Amino acid sequence: MKLYSLLIPMALLMGGCAQKTGTPENIVADNFAFADRQLRFAFTEIDSAMQRLDERQKENMVFAPRNIQPDGSLRLVASRDWCSGFFPGELWYMYEYTGDDFWKQKAIEFTAPVEREKTNAGTHDMGFKVYCSFGNGYRLTNDSTYRDVIIESARTLATRFKDKVGAIRSWDHNRDKWQCPVIIDNMMNLELLFEAAKESGDSTLRDIAVKHAKTTMKNHFRPDYSSYHVVDYDTITGQVLHKHTHQGYAHESAWSRGQAWGLYGYTMCYRETGDKEFLNQAKHISDYIFDSPALPDDLIPYWDYQAPGIPNEPRDVSAAAVTACALYELSMYDRENAETHKRRADKILESITAHYRAKENADRGFLTLHSVGSGNSNSEVDVPIIYADYYFLEALLKKQKLEKDGTAIL
Ligand code: GLY
Repeated sequence: MKLYSLLIPMALLMGGCAQKTGTPENIVADNFAFADRQLRFAFTEIDSAMQRLDERQKENMVFAPRNIQPDGSLRLVASRDWCSGFFPGELWYMYEYTGDDFWKQKAIEFTAPVEREKTNAGTHDMGFKVYCSFGNGYRLTNDSTYRDVIIESARTLATRFKDKVGAIRSWDHNRDKWQCPVIIDNMMNLELLFEAAKESGDSTLRDIAVKHAKTTMKNHFRPDYSSYHVVDYDTITGQVLHKHTHQGYAHESAWSRGQAWGLYGYTMCYRETGDKEFLNQAKHISDYIFDSPALPDDLIPYWDYQAPGIPNEPRDVSAAAVTACALYELSMYDRENAETHKRRADKILESITAHYRAKENADRGFLTLHSVGSGNSNSEVDVPIIYADYYFLEALLKKQKLEKDGTAIL
């Protein structure tokens, strides 16, 4: 782990210079300088939202920003929400970039409420919640109490693994519709298992992650390497029952964030295993995304590659930010296409910076605009969403690291 405190004054200066293209000369420095100001503003927005909580919200201990609601207010969520780890994760990324103890203390403060999730076996979202918060915290502090939370959370997540299916069950809701739903998003939760296996020496956690990735590779993808969102399995026979969407446009369409989760997930699985099948899968997913005629020139996808009203459909900045993170790392492994992957990731970050960034001291303290939670159910459409900001900062850190040290692994 390296801290960049010495670089800050120079970085802030460089961040101020604009190129002719309208994007700043040093896109990393510019965005972290912006985030430094905007996240301080976010704390005031969070404080005001906390003042307005009703009794039920207080009981639920909501604390973490998630999105801007249709009435313009900031939505805070409790630790059990799948988005609770992203804001603490952003604060860790701020600490990583600046080395400033202010951000470390804030990160510690916002990470603590997520700890209770370590025993919550009712969800597969453990990685999003715990790895983004405690995982980054452990990486940057080596605090053994954080390590213990990571291991306990991974063991809890592993209880959702279904032997017969060969995958971790994602959701418990909609039981009338699905027996054992597994969603492409779940690829992201495997990083927690890989990390916990290394830290604990418990190889079953790693075995579960590998098996889940292989089962998903077999059943979630179409011949063109676009992926279904939800694959439902028979818990007794392990057979596939349904291939559905939940947040995308249609069962047979390609939901944009789902493609990004797959790309990130298989790139990460290759890093953790060295299994070439995973690398090839990531390359194919990347080809699907960038060969898609529906991908706009600025590389910020519509919320679904087959959304019916393209080009008059909302974009999903979150999908683009996750894709950029994956591409920086993929450029390390797919050397033949390294330049292409990096150029595309850079373009995504430039587009977000130039056209999708939030207004300073406004937009409730979010960093980016124009993400879509679920276009299918008309929920969180074309709004700032916390995970877009988290992966935006992650991609910026990866870019910086790749250009400095030749590795995009944080
Ligand atoms: N994991 C849920 C989503 O990507 O919206």
